Amino acid sequence: MITVAPIVNRDLRPLVDRFGRVHTNLRVSVTDRCNIRCFYCMPLENVQFKPRHEILSFEEIERFVRVAAGMGIRKIRLTGGEPLVRQDVDRLVAQLVRVPGIEDIALTTNGILLTQQAEGLKRAGLHRLNISLDTLSEERFQQIARREGIQRVLDGIAAAREAGFERIRLNAVAIRDLTEDDIVPLADFARRHGLELRFIEFMPLDGEQHWAGRQVLSGAEIRQRLEEAFGPLVPAARVNPSQPAVDFDFADGRGRIGLINPVTEPFCGDCDRLRLTAEGQIRNCLFSIEEWDARTLLRGKGTDEQLAAMIRESVGAKKAGHGIDSDEFVRPQRAMYQIGG
Ligand code: 5AD
Ligand code: SF4
Repeated sequence: MITVAPIVNRDLRPLVDRFGRVHTNLRVSVTDRCNIRCFYCMPLENVQFKPRHEILSFEEIERFVRVAAGMGIRKIRLTGGEPLVRQDVDRLVAQLVRVPGIEDIALTTNGILLTQQAEGLKRAGLHRLNISLDTLSEERFQQIARREGIQRVLDGIAAAREAGFERIRLNAVAIRDLTEDDIVPLADFARRHGLELRFIEFMPLDGEQHWAGRQVLSGAEIRQRLEEAFGPLVPAARVNPSQPAVDFDFADGRGRIGLINPVTEPFCGDCDRLRLTAEGQIRNCLFSIEEWDARTLLRGKGTDEQLAAMIRESVGAKKAGHGIDSDEFVRPQRAMYQIGG
């Protein structure tokens, strides 16, 4: 008699949570390290970086992505800390591009190292780049990043364009009593260079835990300032309902602006995102209190089936929303650089 080896029946159903949200998006932090110290993300001193051996290898990340892709993950975003301080991150991009099911790989960077790395990233197959640009002024850059460097960021943006990246997106965190005067110049810069610009409300994820609601410069206020300078903004058609930004076109047709308003207009209802931290913990939300330890499975004798079950469990436990504005809101222990933006 012929005995047939048991067929491993991997559960390939889509990743749907209790609220019907289908998860197709995975944000992978490749390092918690960074070469600057933006106050909305990191503490200035005594930063507790994870030791190297705790950080997932490229092979471990690739395996996780392969399993997740088998469950419907289609888009990957590499984040940090600052992903470009991780050595050879372009090699990881090249590995992930080949994973069956992955259709889109993007990377969020502060731009400082882009002059050296833009070309290699493009060659590796990276599809899209988001570059953080909160201001055009060196003085304000230093107030925010607590390091020098605006010129290197601007050179990095130019290098990304020369390397052939299309649809480069700029991200600006807006902070009250600090970046009001940057809004119009940033929009002007983006329009002149044909870049998309998105303003993001300041979220309580700063490393020093100083966030206060009054520092949030709301999307509504930003819109008002832009309209005073450029005339009415025209709401753009919403192509992807799970995108966090509400997009607007300038009335003269030159350029597009996005407003990401996680604090004043939460978009949790359409969230399709899942996160993997640099040391291999699954998080179902930026603000989740709970984590699932994928690294132990990846490094022990964990099977792909066990990994898949863990991913499904984390999605199943996802809450309806972050509730920043509720009295019961509990700030997560981790700051942005320890999660991945
Ligand atoms: N609030 C809003 N956005 C933040 N980012 C980092 N920290 C915060 C915060 N507390 C953004 C950065 C970058 C991306 C990684 O996340 O500007 O664009
Ligand atoms: Fe570094 Fe990005 Fe955090 Fe700024 S927001 S400190 S660039 S990881």
